[in-house]
Amino acid sequence: MDERIVSSEELVEDQISDSIRPLSLGEYIGQEDVKENIRIFIEAAKMRDESLDHVLLYGPPGLGKTTLAHIIANELNTNIKTASGPAIEKTGDLAAILSTLEPGDVLFIDEIHRIPRFVEEVLYPAMEDFTLEIIIGNDSNTRNIKIDLPPFTLVGATTRAGDLSAPLRDRFGIIAKLQYYTVEELTEIVKRTAKVMDITIVDEAAKELASRSRGTPRIANRLFKRVRDFALVEGDGVMDLTITVNALNRLKVDALGLDETDYQLLKAIIEKFNGGPVGVEAIASSIGEEVTTILDVYEPYLLQIGLLKRTSRGRMVTPRAYAHLHISYQDTIFS
Ligand SMILES: Nc1ncnc2c1ncn2[C@@H]1O[C@H](COP(=O)(O)OP(=O)(O)O)[C@@H](O)[C@H]1O
Ligand SMILES: [Mg+2]
Repeated sequence: MDERIVSSEELVEDQISDSIRPLSLGEYIGQEDVKENIRIFIEAAKMRDESLDHVLLYGPPGLGKTTLAHIIANELNTNIKTASGPAIEKTGDLAAILSTLEPGDVLFIDEIHRIPRFVEEVLYPAMEDFTLEIIIGNDSNTRNIKIDLPPFTLVGATTRAGDLSAPLRDRFGIIAKLQYYTVEELTEIVKRTAKVMDITIVDEAAKELASRSRGTPRIANRLFKRVRDFALVEGDGVMDLTITVNALNRLKVDALGLDETDYQLLKAIIEKFNGGPVGVEAIASSIGEEVTTILDVYEPYLLQIGLLKRTSRGRMVTPRAYAHLHISYQDTIFS
Protein backbone atom coordinates (compact mmCIF):
# COMPACT_ATOMS: atom_id res chain seq x y z
CA MET A 1 0.00 0.00 0.00
CA ASP A 2 1.33 3.41 -0.95
CA GLU A 3 1.58 6.03 1.70
CA ARG A 4 -1.55 8.14 1.66
CA ILE A 5 -1.13 11.85 2.01
CA VAL A 6 -4.28 11.88 4.13
CA SER A 7 -3.19 8.98 6.30
CA SER A 8 -3.51 9.84 9.96
CA GLU A 9 -0.67 7.48 10.77
CA GLU A 10 2.74 8.94 11.38
CA LEU A 11 4.97 8.97 8.30
CA VAL A 12 8.71 9.55 8.25
CA GLU A 13 8.21 13.06 6.86
CA ASP A 14 6.14 13.99 9.92
CA GLN A 15 8.96 13.18 12.30
CA ILE A 16 11.34 15.75 10.91
CA SER A 17 8.91 18.51 11.72
CA ASP A 18 9.02 18.34 15.49
CA SER A 19 9.58 22.09 15.59
CA ILE A 20 5.88 22.64 14.93
CA ARG A 21 4.84 20.63 17.97
CA PRO A 22 3.30 22.83 20.65
CA LEU A 23 5.28 22.66 23.89
CA SER A 24 2.81 24.02 26.44
CA LEU A 25 -0.89 23.67 27.20
CA GLY A 26 -1.29 27.28 26.12
CA GLU A 27 -0.04 26.49 22.63
CA TYR A 28 -2.09 23.30 22.34
CA ILE A 29 -5.15 24.22 20.32
CA GLY A 30 -8.60 22.69 20.91
CA GLN A 31 -9.49 19.69 23.15
CA GLU A 32 -10.72 22.27 25.64
CA ASP A 33 -12.26 19.86 28.17
CA VAL A 34 -9.24 17.58 28.25
CA LYS A 35 -6.90 20.56 28.52
CA GLU A 36 -8.86 22.16 31.32
CA ASN A 37 -8.96 18.96 33.38
CA ILE A 38 -5.29 18.26 32.88
CA ARG A 39 -4.43 21.84 33.79
CA ILE A 40 -6.24 21.48 37.11
CA PHE A 41 -4.79 18.06 37.93
CA ILE A 42 -1.28 19.32 37.21
CA GLU A 43 -1.83 22.38 39.36
CA ALA A 44 -3.17 20.25 42.23
CA ALA A 45 -0.29 17.77 42.00
CA LYS A 46 2.16 20.66 42.16
CA MET A 47 0.38 22.18 45.17
CA ARG A 48 0.48 18.87 47.01
CA ASP A 49 4.02 18.27 45.85
CA GLU A 50 3.01 14.84 44.61
CA SER A 51 3.37 13.10 41.30
CA LEU A 52 0.48 13.54 38.89
CA ASP A 53 -2.02 10.66 38.72
CA HIS A 54 -1.49 8.26 35.83
CA VAL A 55 -3.04 9.51 32.59
CA LEU A 56 -4.54 7.49 29.75
CA LEU A 57 -4.94 9.33 26.44
CA TYR A 58 -6.97 7.67 23.75
CA GLY A 59 -8.33 8.52 20.34
CA PRO A 60 -7.56 8.12 16.64
CA PRO A 61 -4.01 8.63 15.32
CA GLY A 62 -2.71 12.15 14.73
CA LEU A 63 -4.92 13.99 17.24
CA GLY A 64 -2.12 14.99 19.59
CA LYS A 65 -1.61 12.20 22.14
CA THR A 66 2.18 12.13 21.94
CA THR A 67 2.26 15.92 21.88
CA LEU A 68 0.10 16.10 24.99
CA ALA A 69 2.28 13.57 26.83
CA HIS A 70 5.32 15.79 26.25
CA ILE A 71 3.36 18.87 27.27
CA ILE A 72 2.34 17.20 30.54
CA ALA A 73 6.01 16.60 31.37
CA ASN A 74 6.88 20.18 30.39
CA GLU A 75 4.11 21.62 32.53
CA LEU A 76 5.25 19.47 35.46
CA ASN A 77 8.85 20.56 34.86
CA THR A 78 9.95 16.94 34.80
CA ASN A 79 11.72 14.63 32.42
CA ILE A 80 9.90 12.32 30.08
CA LYS A 81 11.04 8.80 29.25
CA THR A 82 9.36 7.19 26.31
CA ALA A 83 8.62 3.59 25.43
CA SER A 84 6.37 1.84 22.99
CA GLY A 85 4.03 -1.08 23.64
CA PRO A 86 5.18 -3.26 20.74
CA ALA A 87 8.83 -2.99 21.88
CA ILE A 88 7.99 -4.28 25.36
CA GLU A 89 7.94 -8.04 24.86
CA LYS A 90 9.28 -9.43 28.12
CA THR A 91 8.84 -8.51 31.78
CA GLY A 92 12.54 -7.67 31.77
CA ASP A 93 12.00 -5.01 29.08
CA LEU A 94 9.51 -3.23 31.28
CA ALA A 95 11.57 -3.71 34.44
CA ALA A 96 14.56 -2.15 32.69
CA ILE A 97 12.53 0.92 31.74
CA LEU A 98 10.97 1.29 35.19
CA SER A 99 14.32 1.07 36.94
CA THR A 100 15.59 4.14 35.07
CA LEU A 101 12.84 6.37 36.49
CA GLU A 102 13.68 9.32 38.68
CA PRO A 103 11.31 11.00 41.13
CA GLY A 104 8.45 12.79 39.37
CA ASP A 105 9.36 11.52 35.91
CA VAL A 106 6.74 11.02 33.25
CA LEU A 107 6.90 7.60 31.65
CA PHE A 108 5.16 7.75 28.28
CA ILE A 109 4.13 4.40 26.83
CA ASP A 110 2.75 4.74 23.33
CA GLU A 111 0.45 2.01 21.97
CA ILE A 112 0.11 0.73 25.50
CA HIS A 113 -2.60 -1.74 24.43
CA ARG A 114 0.08 -3.78 22.69
CA ILE A 115 1.98 -4.78 25.83
CA PRO A 116 1.46 -8.55 26.35
CA ARG A 117 -0.85 -9.33 29.25
CA PHE A 118 1.75 -11.18 31.35
CA VAL A 119 4.14 -8.25 31.00
CA GLU A 120 1.41 -5.77 31.80
CA GLU A 121 1.03 -7.33 35.25
CA VAL A 122 4.37 -5.80 36.21
CA LEU A 123 2.73 -2.42 35.73
CA TYR A 124 0.00 -2.96 38.32
CA PRO A 125 2.14 -2.74 41.50
CA ALA A 126 4.35 -0.18 39.80
CA MET A 127 1.38 2.10 39.16
CA GLU A 128 -0.32 1.43 42.46
CA ASP A 129 2.44 1.34 45.05
CA PHE A 130 5.51 2.35 43.06
CA THR A 131 7.06 -1.05 43.51
CA LEU A 132 8.67 -3.28 41.00
CA GLU A 133 7.93 -6.95 41.63
CA ILE A 134 9.89 -9.37 39.58
CA ILE A 135 10.65 -13.04 39.62
CA ILE A 136 14.24 -13.97 39.04
CA GLY A 137 15.90 -17.31 38.49
CA ASN A 138 14.66 -20.31 36.51
CA ASP A 139 11.92 -22.89 37.04
CA SER A 140 13.66 -24.89 39.75
CA ASN A 141 14.94 -21.94 41.69
CA THR A 142 12.93 -18.74 41.57
CA ARG A 143 12.73 -15.82 43.93
CA ASN A 144 10.39 -12.86 44.16
CA ILE A 145 12.05 -9.55 44.63
CA LYS A 146 10.51 -6.19 45.35
CA ILE A 147 12.23 -2.96 44.48
CA ASP A 148 10.98 0.48 45.45
CA LEU A 149 10.42 2.86 42.58
CA PRO A 150 10.31 6.62 42.86
CA PRO A 151 6.89 8.23 42.44
CA PHE A 152 6.27 8.72 38.73
CA THR A 153 3.42 9.40 36.32
CA LEU A 154 2.57 6.89 33.65
CA VAL A 155 1.07 8.47 30.56
CA GLY A 156 -0.33 5.79 28.28
CA ALA A 157 -1.56 6.41 24.74
CA THR A 158 -3.74 4.15 22.67
CA THR A 159 -5.90 4.33 19.60
CA ARG A 160 -8.17 1.71 21.14
CA ALA A 161 -9.24 2.04 24.74
CA GLY A 162 -11.37 -1.06 24.24
CA ASP A 163 -8.28 -3.22 23.74
CA LEU A 164 -6.93 -2.29 27.14
CA SER A 165 -7.48 -4.83 29.91
CA ALA A 166 -9.84 -3.71 32.66
CA PRO A 167 -7.22 -4.02 35.44
CA LEU A 168 -4.85 -1.76 33.53
CA ARG A 169 -7.54 0.76 32.61
CA ASP A 170 -8.69 0.92 36.23
CA ARG A 171 -5.26 2.01 37.39
CA PHE A 172 -5.36 5.27 35.48
CA GLY A 173 -6.70 8.14 37.57
CA ILE A 174 -7.20 10.37 34.54
CA ILE A 175 -8.69 9.04 31.32
CA ALA A 176 -8.99 11.49 28.46
CA LYS A 177 -10.50 10.89 25.04
CA LEU A 178 -9.20 13.14 22.30
CA GLN A 179 -11.81 14.26 19.77
CA TYR A 180 -11.56 15.13 16.11
CA TYR A 181 -10.87 18.85 15.71
CA THR A 182 -13.32 21.33 14.25
CA VAL A 183 -12.47 23.19 11.05
CA GLU A 184 -12.04 26.36 13.14
CA GLU A 185 -9.52 24.69 15.43
CA LEU A 186 -7.63 23.18 12.53
CA THR A 187 -7.58 26.59 10.84
CA GLU A 188 -5.90 27.94 13.95
CA ILE A 189 -3.41 25.06 13.92
CA VAL A 190 -2.59 25.72 10.26
CA LYS A 191 -2.04 29.40 10.98
CA ARG A 192 0.18 28.57 13.90
CA THR A 193 2.24 26.22 11.75
CA ALA A 194 2.57 28.94 9.10
CA LYS A 195 3.81 31.35 11.73
CA VAL A 196 6.34 28.90 13.15
CA MET A 197 7.60 28.13 9.63
CA ASP A 198 7.55 31.80 8.64
CA ILE A 199 5.18 31.34 5.68
CA THR A 200 2.30 33.60 4.69
CA ILE A 201 -1.07 31.90 4.29
CA VAL A 202 -4.28 33.83 3.72
CA ASP A 203 -7.24 33.10 6.00
CA GLU A 204 -9.45 31.48 3.35
CA ALA A 205 -6.60 29.22 2.30
CA ALA A 206 -5.98 28.14 5.89
CA LYS A 207 -9.66 27.35 6.24
CA GLU A 208 -9.72 25.38 2.98
CA LEU A 209 -6.73 23.35 4.07
CA ALA A 210 -8.32 22.77 7.48
CA SER A 211 -11.58 21.56 6.01
CA ARG A 212 -9.76 18.92 3.98
CA SER A 213 -7.71 17.63 6.91
CA ARG A 214 -10.08 15.02 8.32
CA GLY A 215 -10.28 16.64 11.73
CA THR A 216 -6.64 15.71 12.28
CA PRO A 217 -3.73 18.09 13.03
CA ARG A 218 -1.14 15.66 11.70
CA ILE A 219 -2.86 15.69 8.30
CA ALA A 220 -3.32 19.47 8.38
CA ASN A 221 0.39 19.98 8.93
CA ARG A 222 1.32 17.49 6.24
CA LEU A 223 -1.00 19.06 3.65
CA PHE A 224 0.33 22.45 4.69
CA LYS A 225 3.88 21.46 3.79
CA ARG A 226 2.92 20.02 0.41
CA VAL A 227 0.82 23.03 -0.54
CA ARG A 228 3.65 25.30 0.54
CA ASP A 229 5.83 23.64 -2.09
CA PHE A 230 3.26 24.41 -4.79
CA ALA A 231 3.11 28.01 -3.59
CA LEU A 232 6.87 28.29 -3.80
CA VAL A 233 7.33 26.70 -7.20
CA GLU A 234 4.21 27.95 -8.98
CA GLY A 235 3.57 31.20 -7.13
CA ASP A 236 5.54 33.67 -5.09
CA GLY A 237 5.60 31.59 -1.92
CA VAL A 238 2.39 33.04 -0.52
CA MET A 239 -0.30 30.45 0.14
CA ASP A 240 -3.44 32.00 -1.29
CA LEU A 241 -6.80 30.35 -1.90
CA THR A 242 -6.29 29.63 -5.61
CA ILE A 243 -2.94 27.95 -5.15
CA THR A 244 -4.21 26.00 -2.16
CA VAL A 245 -7.35 24.66 -3.86
CA ASN A 246 -5.40 23.84 -6.98
CA ALA A 247 -2.66 22.05 -5.05
CA LEU A 248 -5.10 20.04 -2.93
CA ASN A 249 -7.00 18.97 -6.03
CA ARG A 250 -3.79 17.85 -7.67
CA LEU A 251 -2.86 15.97 -4.50
CA LYS A 252 -6.23 14.25 -4.97
CA VAL A 253 -7.64 15.27 -1.64
CA ASP A 254 -11.28 16.20 -2.10
CA ALA A 255 -13.40 18.84 -0.34
CA LEU A 256 -14.10 16.52 2.60
CA GLY A 257 -10.52 15.31 2.79
CA LEU A 258 -11.24 12.01 1.09
CA ASP A 259 -8.67 10.39 -1.17
CA GLU A 260 -8.80 7.51 -3.61
CA THR A 261 -8.64 4.89 -0.89
CA ASP A 262 -11.79 6.26 0.72
CA TYR A 263 -13.54 6.25 -2.64
CA GLN A 264 -12.38 2.69 -3.20
CA LEU A 265 -13.72 1.59 0.16
CA LEU A 266 -17.10 3.31 -0.22
CA LYS A 267 -17.50 2.13 -3.81
CA ALA A 268 -16.62 -1.43 -2.85
CA ILE A 269 -19.43 -1.46 -0.30
CA ILE A 270 -21.85 0.07 -2.80
CA GLU A 271 -20.93 -2.03 -5.80
CA LYS A 272 -20.07 -5.37 -4.23
CA PHE A 273 -22.36 -5.39 -1.23
CA ASN A 274 -25.26 -3.23 -2.31
CA GLY A 275 -24.35 -0.52 0.14
CA GLY A 276 -24.20 -2.92 3.09
CA PRO A 277 -24.60 -3.93 5.80
CA VAL A 278 -21.36 -5.81 5.37
CA GLY A 279 -18.78 -7.08 7.83
CA VAL A 280 -15.48 -5.29 8.10
CA GLU A 281 -13.59 -8.50 7.19
CA ALA A 282 -15.41 -8.68 3.87
CA ILE A 283 -14.64 -5.02 3.17
CA ALA A 284 -11.00 -5.59 4.03
CA SER A 285 -10.59 -8.51 1.69
CA SER A 286 -12.47 -6.82 -1.13
CA ILE A 287 -10.05 -3.87 -1.15
CA GLY A 288 -6.97 -5.82 -0.08
CA GLU A 289 -6.42 -4.14 3.27
CA GLU A 290 -5.84 -5.25 6.83
CA VAL A 291 -8.90 -5.28 9.07
CA THR A 292 -7.05 -3.28 11.73
CA THR A 293 -6.08 -0.59 9.23
CA ILE A 294 -9.71 -0.18 8.29
CA LEU A 295 -10.78 -0.05 11.93
CA ASP A 296 -8.09 2.35 13.10
CA VAL A 297 -7.34 4.50 10.11
CA TYR A 298 -9.97 4.54 7.33
CA GLU A 299 -13.22 4.05 9.09
CA PRO A 300 -13.23 6.46 12.08
CA TYR A 301 -13.30 9.58 9.95
CA LEU A 302 -15.89 8.19 7.52
CA LEU A 303 -18.09 7.36 10.51
CA GLN A 304 -17.42 10.77 12.04
CA ILE A 305 -18.58 12.69 8.98
CA GLY A 306 -21.55 10.40 8.45
CA LEU A 307 -20.59 8.71 5.20
CA LEU A 308 -20.49 5.34 6.88
CA LYS A 309 -22.71 3.90 9.56
CA ARG A 310 -21.97 1.05 11.95
CA THR A 311 -24.90 -1.28 12.60
CA SER A 312 -25.18 -4.58 14.42
CA ARG A 313 -25.08 -6.34 11.06
CA GLY A 314 -22.07 -4.50 9.69
CA ARG A 315 -21.09 -1.27 7.94
CA MET A 316 -23.53 0.63 5.74
CA VAL A 317 -22.90 3.43 3.31
CA THR A 318 -25.22 6.37 4.04
CA PRO A 319 -27.31 8.39 1.56
CA ARG A 320 -24.89 11.25 2.19
CA ALA A 321 -22.05 9.10 0.84
CA TYR A 322 -24.06 8.26 -2.30
CA ALA A 323 -24.61 11.96 -2.83
CA HIS A 324 -20.95 12.80 -2.27
CA LEU A 325 -19.88 10.12 -4.76
CA HIS A 326 -22.59 11.20 -7.22
CA ILE A 327 -24.07 7.74 -7.24
CA SER A 328 -27.84 7.53 -7.25
CA TYR A 329 -29.14 5.80 -4.13
CA GLN A 330 -32.23 4.46 -5.97
CA ASP A 331 -30.22 2.92 -8.81
CA THR A 332 -28.24 0.73 -6.54
CA ILE A 333 -30.85 -0.40 -4.09
CA PHE A 334 -33.17 -1.57 -6.84
CA SER A 335 -30.56 -3.07 -9.11
N1 LIG B 1 -3.73 20.49 19.81
C1 LIG B 1 -2.80 20.70 18.89
N2 LIG B 1 -2.40 21.94 18.55
C2 LIG B 1 -1.48 22.14 17.60
N3 LIG B 1 -0.84 21.15 16.94
C3 LIG B 1 -1.16 19.88 17.25
C4 LIG B 1 -2.14 19.59 18.23
N4 LIG B 1 -2.27 18.26 18.34
C5 LIG B 1 -1.40 17.73 17.45
N5 LIG B 1 -0.73 18.70 16.79
C6 LIG B 1 0.23 18.47 15.70
O1 LIG B 1 -0.08 17.24 15.08
C7 LIG B 1 1.03 16.37 15.06
C8 LIG B 1 0.57 14.98 15.41
O2 LIG B 1 0.28 14.90 16.78
P1 LIG B 1 0.73 13.63 17.68
O3 LIG B 1 0.82 14.12 19.08
O4 LIG B 1 1.94 13.00 17.11
O5 LIG B 1 -0.55 12.68 17.50
P2 LIG B 1 -0.83 11.22 18.07
O6 LIG B 1 0.26 10.90 19.05
O7 LIG B 1 -2.19 11.31 18.69
O8 LIG B 1 -0.84 10.30 16.89
C9 LIG B 1 2.04 16.95 16.04
O9 LIG B 1 3.33 16.88 15.52
C10 LIG B 1 1.65 18.40 16.20
O10 LIG B 1 2.44 19.20 15.37
MG1 LIG C 1 1.70 9.36 18.84
